[in-house]
Amino acid sequence: MNDVTFDFQDKGMVVGLPGGPAYFNYYWLHDACVSCIDPQTRERVFDTSELAAPPRATSAHVDGDMVVIGWQEEAQASHVPLGLLEEVAANGRANDPAEIARNLWYKDHAPDIVRISQEEVTGTMEGRAGLSRAVIEDGIAIVTDMEHSTESLPRLAEAIGPITPSAEGLFFDVRVEIEPTNLAFTAGPLEMHTDLPGEETAPGVQFLHCLENTVEGGLSLFLDGAAVAEALRDEDPEAFDLLSRHYIPFFYRHDNWDYRAHQRVIETDLDGNVTGVTISQHLQDNMDLPQELLDRYYPAFLKFIRMMQEDRFLIRFRSEAGNCVVFDNHRIVHGREGYVADSGSRHMRGCYTDRGALRSTYRVLARQGYTGERAVEAVQARA
Ligand SMILES: [Fe+2]
Repeated sequence: MNDVTFDFQDKGMVVGLPGGPAYFNYYWLHDACVSCIDPQTRERVFDTSELAAPPRATSAHVDGDMVVIGWQEEAQASHVPLGLLEEVAANGRANDPAEIARNLWYKDHAPDIVRISQEEVTGTMEGRAGLSRAVIEDGIAIVTDMEHSTESLPRLAEAIGPITPSAEGLFFDVRVEIEPTNLAFTAGPLEMHTDLPGEETAPGVQFLHCLENTVEGGLSLFLDGAAVAEALRDEDPEAFDLLSRHYIPFFYRHDNWDYRAHQRVIETDLDGNVTGVTISQHLQDNMDLPQELLDRYYPAFLKFIRMMQEDRFLIRFRSEAGNCVVFDNHRIVHGREGYVADSGSRHMRGCYTDRGALRSTYRVLARQGYTGERAVEAVQARA
């Protein structure tokens, strides 16, 4: 690694890395020093605003896997991992094990949905990593052989992250209710939606444990909203632009609550990739975009909703007692066909955790060598 070169400039330096030259700002290099992070708390302990003058490097050399940088006004040198510089030069940021490319899917993904038993998830690190990875990558997985008890769902959810409460509490029960607070709690069909768009931050991961299902009809419907959004981008870029740029209002109201929030129907990240969607006609408030903009927004919005009804995207399956569907609530759009209320019993119990917790769990497991790929490969081998 002695062939790394350094070209000192006014506010930063060009480091000649094996992959090519890359510019690094001096403040950034100063902050990236490993001694800025306390080894015990693992928190940042150096406050950059304490610097009396802008940092300026006067020397740099490679020592093992570190770049050692000397500064004009400081006695202490900074140690920056060479690997970090290479990652930032290549991708603009440090590698994140949870940054796994989304596997966008259409209806033919049905046989490839990752299925893992509850025991594998709660009892083995690889099973836990497998479930986490599938939800990050595919947005959906099915946990089979759920223990039939009220403790079963929290035991599964907590293997992924702490349970996030909603207006309904920590858990919700989907079955026919006498005075329903939500369309889900009736026997009617439930149009394709993501949950709780009226909350400022709708929960990111949903668990739906099927405790009982002996009714006629009531098939569960799932589609990959990110795949539909990408299809819209291909087919109608202007519609995609409108839906990914503007925020529209959603609500969730009952006697004791009145949630309201604005969301983008298509959510994109800083790189412009689709990360998810928010859709719920039954919880959508009156649009409050400028009326002239609505002339263009409504047709785009309705086009997207109609695309979600197209057969090419939709997976239909019967929820079986003992299974729990785990899915990304910001990405996987779900619904249900209507069923005959007195033909049997249908009881789903649900709860949420968030995407941050899911990724955190995956990173910790990946750091220990559990990538979850084995669980995914097992599904591929079965297919
Ligand atoms: Fe739902």
